Amino acid sequence: MIYSQILGVGSYLPPRIWTNDDLKEIMDTSDEWIVQRTGIKQRHWVEGTTSTSDLALEAAKLALENAKIDKSELDLIIFATLSPDHEFPGAACFLQAKLQTPGIPALDIRQQCSGFLYGLSVADTFIKSGNYKKILLVGAEVHSKGLDKTTRGRDVAVLFGDGAGAAVLGPTHDGTGSRVLSTHLHADGTYAKELWVKAPSMTYEGTYLPREAYENLEHFPQMNGKTVFVHAVKRMPEVLFEALNHNSLTLDQIDLFVFHQANLRINEMVAKQLGIPEDKVFNTIARFANTTAATIPIGLDEAVKCGKLKKGMLVASAAFGAGFTWASAIIKW
Ligand SMILES: CC(C)(COP(=O)(O)OP(=O)(O)OC[C@H]1O[C@@H](n2cnc3c(N)ncnc32)[C@H](O)[C@@H]1OP(=O)(O)O)[C@@H](O)C(=O)NCCC(=O)NCCS
Repeated sequence: MIYSQILGVGSYLPPRIWTNDDLKEIMDTSDEWIVQRTGIKQRHWVEGTTSTSDLALEAAKLALENAKIDKSELDLIIFATLSPDHEFPGAACFLQAKLQTPGIPALDIRQQCSGFLYGLSVADTFIKSGNYKKILLVGAEVHSKGLDKTTRGRDVAVLFGDGAGAAVLGPTHDGTGSRVLSTHLHADGTYAKELWVKAPSMTYEGTYLPREAYENLEHFPQMNGKTVFVHAVKRMPEVLFEALNHNSLTLDQIDLFVFHQANLRINEMVAKQLGIPEDKVFNTIARFANTTAATIPIGLDEAVKCGKLKKGMLVASAAFGAGFTWASAIIKW
């Protein structure tokens, strides 16, 4: 029996930090409002022409180094993002070119905040099938260029940061050692318009970016924050328990929870509902805000770097986001 194993992780945040006070210079907001409602204190935003695949490249190089794998050994790249460099081709193709690994397949995953776990599920299944042996899985986002960074867009703009996280996966035959134990995926597209970017779109008549759509700011994300919140606090525990039950594990057997980071209040509510001790939940939102598909691999990498996540530990992850999509994974580190 083949299992998949995470061989190494890496992450990269662009250097420029925007604190909540910095945002006050460009919109009507306050540190107090943002911290109270979300727990976010700062976020990293790119400068100049830096694109999503640029961030991904840096995270990928670090993950390969930590995995002690040469890029020539990779046989697949999976790239989860909602902010690809271009409409097409996919971001994975641009990353592949920058990594200089021509010929290997490059696959994009478009499941927003659940994107990394969707990608992990694909990578896990491909490795178990024996068809792929070394997979680079990346989650990366450049949100800052797609946000309405004025008072009009403040409800969404303050929540998101740029960044990238990556993992290198390979096969193992050790059914008791370090491996991905399970992944569980869900979606409910009836809520697709509760958090979305309307334009450009093939649903308009004649052209995919009519002038009126641009003038109406339909190219910026729109979110019904309260609906997202209500569904997130329901779905995250649900999908976490699905994973625990599948593996005949109980909550207290999990050593660390690396949840998606949309809002500290969501994660605090989930942890409280389930009775998970605070020190078992690894949060990064205060420093990085919500980096969507990059959040979980950044969290894993940060947890390793600060000694919170060690070999042999059981780590559980759950995410909820646009789509709506939600997912979970349990990994033996
Ligand atoms: C976005 C979120 C923090 C908003 O919190 P909320 O308590 O629902 O706040 P509201 O939207 O009701 O807004 C309250 C007030 O703050 C104002 N406000 C919104 N954004 C603001 C900002 N950045 N700074 C200051 N005031 C702001 C609103 O205009 C509103 O003012 P009003 O009462 O005068 O109309 C919250 O809904 C949330 O976190 N939802 C989940 C979002 C999420 O997880 N998204 C990503 C999914 S992956």
